Parts: sequence; C-alpha cells; structure tokens
Amino acid sequence: MTDAPRVVGTPARIPAGGRLLLTPGPVAVAPSVRQAVARTDLGHREVVTRRCLAEVRRKLASLCGGADQYTSVLLTGSGTAALEAVLCSVTPADAELLVVSNGRFGDRLEQIAAVHKLRCATLRLPVGRAVDPVAVQQALDARPTVTHVAMVQHETSLGVLNPVPAIARIVRAAGPEFIVDGISSIGAEQLDLAHDPVDWLVGSANKCIEALAGLSFVCARPERFESLAAIGPRSFYLDLHQHYLAQQRNDAPLFTPAVQLLLALDEALALALDEGVPARSARYAAHSEQVRDGLSRRGLRLLVPVPDRSSSVTAFEVPPPLTAARLCDAMSAAGVVIYPASSVTQEVAIVATMGQLTTEDVKRFFLVLDETLAALSPSGVCRDASRLEAGVH
Ligand SMILES: Cc1ncc(COP(=O)(O)O)c(C=O)c1O
Repeated sequence: MTDAPRVVGTPARIPAGGRLLLTPGPVAVAPSVRQAVARTDLGHREVVTRRCLAEVRRKLASLCGGADQYTSVLLTGSGTAALEAVLCSVTPADAELLVVSNGRFGDRLEQIAAVHKLRCATLRLPVGRAVDPVAVQQALDARPTVTHVAMVQHETSLGVLNPVPAIARIVRAAGPEFIVDGISSIGAEQLDLAHDPVDWLVGSANKCIEALAGLSFVCARPERFESLAAIGPRSFYLDLHQHYLAQQRNDAPLFTPAVQLLLALDEALALALDEGVPARSARYAAHSEQVRDGLSRRGLRLLVPVPDRSSSVTAFEVPPPLTAARLCDAMSAAGVVIYPASSVTQEVAIVATMGQLTTEDVKRFFLVLDETLAALSPSGVCRDASRLEAGVH
C-alpha cells in the first residue's frame, strides 16, 4: 500500500452535438454496426462465433471480388498488423522484395521489410502523383531476380489512387508475387481479385468497409496460404500460415480475437455487399466533390491532380502561418475531425469522406472550417466565408 495520491488526468472534453469524423479511419459507422458490438457476450470457442468467423471470412473474399477462388484470414490488430503478417510470412529467406512507394504508407512497407531484415529495394516515385505502371515495368526489367512486389492501392496520406489493376498485370507477366495494401481502398475502389492478379491483398475493418477499428485481414487463394508451410515463421503472433490453418481447418481463431468486433464486422460486410463497391465509391466521390468544390472556392489549394485522386480523400494546403496541427486540433475541439498530413516542406490537411456521411455533414465541416480559419487566421483566405456559404461568389 502507498499513501501517494492517485493522479487523475483531465478528461478529454467531448463537444456536444456529436463528433463528425472526416478521417480515413476510424469512420462513422451505421447504427446497426455500432449496436452489433453490444448485442451479446460471446466466447470465441463457441460454435456461433466460429460460424460468424467463417461467414466474415467468406464475405471479405466476396467483397474483394474473389468469392469462389479466394479465402481470407482475419487478424486482431490494425491494418499494419496484417501488412506485417504478410511481409514476414510470405517471403522465404532468399526472397527479393521490390517496394513501390509514392508516399507515407508505401514507405511503411519498406520499414516493415527492414525490421524483418528482408532483402528489399524501393522504387521511390513522386509523392502526390499516381504510380506510373511504366516505371514499375522498367524496375522489374532492371531487376529480374525480384520475387515479390509490394505497394499501396490508395496512398491515403494525400489521397492518391494507384492503378493497381494495370500494375498487377505487369507484375504477373514478370513473375513475382504481388502484395497489395488495400487498407484504405477495399470496399470503395475498383479491384476485383477474379480479374486483377493480386496474390496477397491486405485490408482493415475500419475504413471503406465501415466497421469498427481493431480487425484486419489478408485475402489470397487457399493454395497460396497452403504454400506458406514451406516458409519458416519470422513471427510467432503474426505467423499467417498458423492463422490460416486454425481458421481454415477448424473455423477457430488461433488466439483470442476481438470477438465483439467480429459481430460488427459481419454486420458492416452485409451492408457493404448490399450497397456494392461501385455505389459506395460513387457515394464517397459525390461527397468528395462537395469537399473539393468548397475548398477550391475558398482559395485553398488541392494537392493531387484530378486524374490521380481517390474517391474518398482530399488533401489541401493549409495557408501559412497556420499549421495543419493547429487547424485540426481547433476543429476537433469543435467536434469536426480531419487529420494533419504535413511533410517537412508543406503544411497539409486531409479530409476523408469514408463512412456514413451526408451532404449536411459536409456543410457542417465547412461551417466549422470557416469559423476556425476566421479565428486562427483572420487575415488569411476565406474572409468572405459567409458569402460563400450563402452561394454568393
Ligand atoms: C494505405 C494504408 N496502409 C496502412 C495503414 C495503417 O493502418 P493502421 O493504422 O490500421 O495500422 C493505413 C492507415 O491509415 C493506410 O491508410
């Protein structure tokens, strides 16, 4: 026992009126997804949970376009856990990895490879622009010994959509296995495993699938998962082969999973499959257009050229002397959450339209943005914000 006083932190103030998440995960989820978490207590060894796991794995493969010939393995952990599980489980000792990077999340693949001491070269391409498939072709021509290629489909850091279907065909023709980080694209950007030859597709629950944070997954053909038996594990917890064996052969999780999140993911997947990827993509894109139009009308510069933009994320330059961190913190205090994405040379914020949003939500974003800019940067852009909102230009 100690007499030391208990230290109690200041509780974070949650603004009234509800929080509006305009972030690339976690996202606003449907009420039925939120309610699924509270539905019941559940043990992970129960038949009902095992059935739910099998159902979730089937729906994930289906959402990725690989319904019949693909399966998926579910992991408890954020998207990075699934990326690390793939990179450290599918690369034998003599593997040679080529990472294609045009931003922060591409660089993360390289960082994971470095931790696991994989032989890895990085094709670093311009940030804020989509990857040029020709550059990948040239890199593979120059390195015929590459065994695996890894890249991100949606480089969320600035909202750049990479042409993964076209690159998949190039990689397949050259021979290496193709690993794709689809963490912020699965569910809302076009990628169809039945037609686009991706060997390992990684995703997470809490972005375009619109479930809750804490679960991630890997989608691949069963033969690919089986072939991992020949590769020694580099990680105990993230050994993809062991997770596959437990889930495929026994419908059982290898370790204790986030059981309640599984229920929420099952519900979210039912909604996602019902809506379909094209409709969800169009819904996000319509809200993104509203965001892009409003930002441009305020004189705020968008960073990604039109053809390279994703359906869901918009990056804009924060006008100096304001910093992105200050802008985002002030907006968060008012209940509207966007993320800073600055680089060493540029103050940048990103607005995402993933999740259950409405045009009214986007209007609320602009009201809070205008108030915040007026308070923090009174002489900067947007002096006539009220006129803009009223549609007066
Ligand atoms: C493309 C991409 N890859 C990886 C990650 C990392 O995911 P997590 O934060 O869930 O580990 C993110 C997160 O936003 C992402 O957008």
